[in-house]
Amino acid sequence: MPSKRKGVQHLSCVILAAGLGTRMKSASPKVLHPLFDRPMLSYTVDAVRSLGAASVIVVTGKEQGPFKEAIPSFTGLRFAVQKDQKGTADALRSALGSTGKSFRGTVLVTTGDTPLLTSATLKKFLSLHRRRKSAISVLSFKADDPAGYGRIVRGVRGAAQRIVEEKDASPSEKAIHEVNSGVYAIETRAMTYLQKIKINPLKKEYYLTDIVDIAISNGEHVGVHCVGVESEFMGVNTRAELMQAHKLMSRRTVYSLMERGVSFVDADSVYISPQVEIGPDTMVYPGVFLHGNTQVGKHCCILPNVRIVDSTIRDGAIIKDGSVIESSSVGRKAQVGPYAHIRPESVIEDNAKVGNFVETKKSIIGKGSKAMHLSYIGDASLGSSVNIGAGTITCNYDGTSKHRTRIGDGVFIGSDTQLVAPVTIGDGAYIGAGSTITQDVPAGMLALSRVRQFHIKRKKK
Ligand code: UD1
Ligand code: CA
Repeated sequence: MPSKRKGVQHLSCVILAAGLGTRMKSASPKVLHPLFDRPMLSYTVDAVRSLGAASVIVVTGKEQGPFKEAIPSFTGLRFAVQKDQKGTADALRSALGSTGKSFRGTVLVTTGDTPLLTSATLKKFLSLHRRRKSAISVLSFKADDPAGYGRIVRGVRGAAQRIVEEKDASPSEKAIHEVNSGVYAIETRAMTYLQKIKINPLKKEYYLTDIVDIAISNGEHVGVHCVGVESEFMGVNTRAELMQAHKLMSRRTVYSLMERGVSFVDADSVYISPQVEIGPDTMVYPGVFLHGNTQVGKHCCILPNVRIVDSTIRDGAIIKDGSVIESSSVGRKAQVGPYAHIRPESVIEDNAKVGNFVETKKSIIGKGSKAMHLSYIGDASLGSSVNIGAGTITCNYDGTSKHRTRIGDGVFIGSDTQLVAPVTIGDGAYIGAGSTITQDVPAGMLALSRVRQFHIKRKKK
């Protein structure tokens, strides 16, 4: 559709992310601090990317390496350098060369430290900006506690006049609850006002917020649009605010999952990353962490204090208390835990059971197989309906290399067995308790390798 393409070509997005983030007291750039599994900045990148702009420019400091590593590349993504961190206006100036010389249209400016901002709100804001044909628009919101934000100063008729930063605000200005979100839409023709911004004498920085006042005194129309809810605009400047952002993002995810039929006992005690998917009629108990590329099916039960990362849990599975599941899959109606550790590349097939204090790694637990108590199953492939007795260990490591253990269908491994890999146990074989198995066991055979019991008469005292 030509009209759509025209819109795309006339929008460019700039994300200001070069700030030193001194309030975080950290060696790494503030906007690269993780929020769940991804750097804070990547949420803003995703939100603006979905607007379909011709280019998305991320303004960084001189050290670009960590930024390029953290943000996956896509067509239109560019990085601009702000050599010295001289404020938000200076940061935007550094980006302008990257929009392309011939670019004419709207530049949407956002900050890299507002990860909760949604693309829906940005779309609403851009359409208001276009409808009013303003030279500049500012996205504002009403803050319960406006401390730390720039306040929107409006005249008697309600028209916006300027933005005043906390440090420069008078007591009556500090009482204003309408604040600057740090999102602006600026027509390229109004960018000339950037050059007129003077250094702030208190902070020794060029404030982008000053563009409002300058444009208005040059007869331009500046719109300030109060759209969206406060929680979306939360700026992360400190560790305390980063914690708050985690809570808000998790809460938002939990509430949207509840709308889709998932039950939670306590929304405030779980941490669910926004990319996690959960099917209807699944119940999630307190203390659960679900993150990474994790999908949980329908009718599952995730009991207290479970952590699941980068894993798939299929319909009807039960994950019991205190279990950890990493980069693995759990089949339909399978059960894991309590206190099981499912390490990467484990496949727990349908109806299988992995019980208390069992650790698996790079192993397949076949359909309906059971390892219920105190076992280590590493580099092993189990067929279906295998029974692993308590205390069974696959000895997969010889000090140099790892070796596999293969166990056929219907095998019974007695308690306290060591399977010294590489070793294969044929279908239907039976291993007596307490055996150390160093050779392959043919199908259907009973293997015993323990010392035969003998009795010695005790001397009478
Ligand atoms: C800024 C706004 C404030 C607004 C708030 C919203 C200014 C002067 N103030 O304040 O009105 O209410 O955001 O969250 O703009 N950055 C650079 N280069 C710099 C300085 C900052 O790229 O030289 C980037 C930062 O990485 C950050 C963003 O700009 O992503 C905002 O900077 P920050 O220092 O956090 O501004 P605030 O004090 O929060
Ligand atoms: Ca900020």
